[in-house]
Amino acid sequence: MAAIIDVQHVNKAFGGLKVINDCSIQVEKGSITGLIGPNGAGKSTLFNIIAGALPLDSGRVLLDGDDITNQPANALFHRGLLRTFQIAHEFSHMTALENLMMVPPAQSGENLFAAWFTPGLVRSEETEVRRRALEVIDFIGLHHVRNELAGNLSGGQKKLLELGRTMMTDARVVLLDEIAAGVNRTLLGDLVTNIERLNRELGYTFLVIEHDMDMIARLCDPVIVLAQGSVMVEGSIAEIQNNPEVIEAYFGAAS
Ligand SMILES: Nc1ncnc2c1ncn2[C@@H]1O[C@H](COP(=O)(O)OP(=O)(O)OP(=O)(O)O)[C@@H](O)[C@H]1O
Ligand SMILES: [Mg+2]
Repeated sequence: MAAIIDVQHVNKAFGGLKVINDCSIQVEKGSITGLIGPNGAGKSTLFNIIAGALPLDSGRVLLDGDDITNQPANALFHRGLLRTFQIAHEFSHMTALENLMMVPPAQSGENLFAAWFTPGLVRSEETEVRRRALEVIDFIGLHHVRNELAGNLSGGQKKLLELGRTMMTDARVVLLDEIAAGVNRTLLGDLVTNIERLNRELGYTFLVIEHDMDMIARLCDPVIVLAQGSVMVEGSIAEIQNNPEVIEAYFGAAS
């Protein structure tokens, strides 16, 4: 298996609280891998560690075979490793379209970035970023609210905008943290379709944290179950749903 993300024996504690516990996961290149687990299992913390937002205590993280342990988020961004946030973090006083235009170019876009400093190319550069932002906003189905202030969008629309931000660059790996939370059913269908298209047509690899099991079932293979900071089990959604340990962890109180 070609792992694009390879998390090896990672540990992380906050004060005395051990949150990530000898955790090892691999995300195969080209996959849409699910990451599920009860509240507080450490899913977002693991994302923060992978994406360079939080230093780990021990262990390693590899991106496409290169050690990226504790590299800062912006360096990883330029290598095509992007994430969305569990709480959307839009620029509320800018329009939806302007929010997309704010995302700095990465990878092949670096040529465009150089052009920003070349007088005379500035206009065409702005046009290029704007054109891409308009394509993205169409893709995520927010064309009709493109000129609304982002702060006025619904929770679901803000999540779509988060996904859109990852499309302004040439992403290779995208970490989605509860992108479906608060999104209505119609928008959710669009979101799932868009994730599938990005995966198939543009070769994005996704690691998806989600509590919505329908969405996980539709999108993800394999699915990794995290509990108390370690991998409990990994497999297809069918294997996960029939696993007694998982049923106990998730539904134990209900049975
Ligand atoms: N910066 C922090 N300082 C202290 N404790 C933290 C910090 N971030 C997270 N924690 C704790 O670490 C544990 C794991 O949190 P995390 O947010 O990673 O869980 P999660 O699996 O994403 O949960 P949820 O499904 O509710 O989003 C929780 O007990 C949380 O309170
Ligand atoms: Mg979380």
